[in-house]
Amino acid sequence: MDVNVVNHPLVATRLSVLRDKETGDPEFRSTLDELTSLLVYEASRDLPVRVGEIHTPVSPAEGYQLDSPPLLVPVLRAGLGMADAARRLIPESTMGFVGLARDEETFEPRAYMESLPEDLSGSRAIVLDPMVATGGSLLHSCRLLADRGCEDIMIVCVLAAPEGIDRLAESGLPLTMVTASVDDGLNENAYIVPGLGDAGDRLFGAI
Ligand code: URA
Repeated sequence: MDVNVVNHPLVATRLSVLRDKETGDPEFRSTLDELTSLLVYEASRDLPVRVGEIHTPVSPAEGYQLDSPPLLVPVLRAGLGMADAARRLIPESTMGFVGLARDEETFEPRAYMESLPEDLSGSRAIVLDPMVATGGSLLHSCRLLADRGCEDIMIVCVLAAPEGIDRLAESGLPLTMVTASVDDGLNENAYIVPGLGDAGDRLFGAI
């Protein structure tokens, strides 16, 4: 799996704000929004465009439109913190949602919300989830997309652990990743180290 770690001063400074435990919830939310814009900008670099003629006030000129805008898929709950920025950047996109909970008998992720088009044949998707830790729930989400025919799945995350990247890479699904950092690994509670804590709690408060 191709992993693009975005090396940019603005990404590094926004990421530091998110990592800092002194950063309060409102600043965490607005900074995640800014960082998502930078990451989605990178993720959309190779989107195909259609060329046509437009007219400036002065003369005809070449104009561009996205050829097949991607489906954006925030993974609930933390992915919601990335949804507005991604849609602002690609307003031509459509948005689906996946919500996952852990099945308390099998301990496997189970989708309690699958709001996705039935047929995604030949399409591309950008999956939004700030934290790729074990990769379990993200893998489940990406399978839902691949099962519907999606052929190009770009994961946009803030942090990824090597364990999660390996698991996704071994899946054989058509995945690529854009991230602000690949961190050291997971601790015994499956938190990313050094990480930024629980992204969902920092966005929406602990419940
Ligand atoms: N999810 C989070 O929000 N944080 C982690 O460190 C791991 C998973």
